[in-house]
Amino acid sequence: MASILFATSALGSAEVLPEPQTVGGQPLMKVMNERKSSRDIDPQSTISKQDLSNMLWAAWGITHDGKRTIGTAMNRQELEIYVITATEISKYSAEDNTLTVVNKGDFRDASAMQDFAKTAPINIVLVGDNEKQKMAEFQHYAAGAASQNIYLYCAQAGLKTVVRYGCDREKLAQAMKLDDKHTILYVQTVGK
Ligand SMILES: Cc1cc2nc3c(=O)[nH]c(=O)nc-3n(C[C@H](O)[C@H](O)[C@H](O)COP(=O)(O)O)c2cc1C
Repeated sequence: MASILFATSALGSAEVLPEPQTVGGQPLMKVMNERKSSRDIDPQSTISKQDLSNMLWAAWGITHDGKRTIGTAMNRQELEIYVITATEISKYSAEDNTLTVVNKGDFRDASAMQDFAKTAPINIVLVGDNEKQKMAEFQHYAAGAASQNIYLYCAQAGLKTVVRYGCDREKLAQAMKLDDKHTILYVQTVGK
């Protein structure tokens, strides 16, 4: 089991995640049957880096001809994925399987209107790049597909998750250092 995700790293530093495990797992039909939203997340729970790598790959990994685990309209690939922990906010890169720290500190309260999410070990923020894709509908489609893949990964790995629209978008965009060419779509809380 890989080490847990609470080591802090310096601003701007890129941490290489364990290689995503892209074979195996539980049968798809069983996992779909077990997919659900859970909010009773233990604040003391931790997510292994292997699980984090796997779920980020499930959401947005590169699989075929430079394309992804999910389709995007006209292959614009407009999603960006950020991970919020108790200690930092990092941006995921599927190309090199890294998380790069964009801000240090505990910003979970900005990512949540509900208490359980403010103390959960992981909140994954799904962001749309408005320059790559102007159509809000297509951004939301992509976020929904990525979210469902996170749900399915969590169901098969025995993790709890819930996708949330509710967050303080202004505060969160500030914490994430986003410009107005990006839209915060959803936040997905993960824990045990
Ligand atoms: C677009 C969308 C937004 C949601 N926003 C929230 C939210 O802000 N907070 C929350 O606790 N659950 C949120 N949910 C989770 C739903 O409440 C949940 O999916 C629904 O109750 C059905 O339960 P299930 O996912 O277990 O099937 C959201 C779900 C979707 C699809």
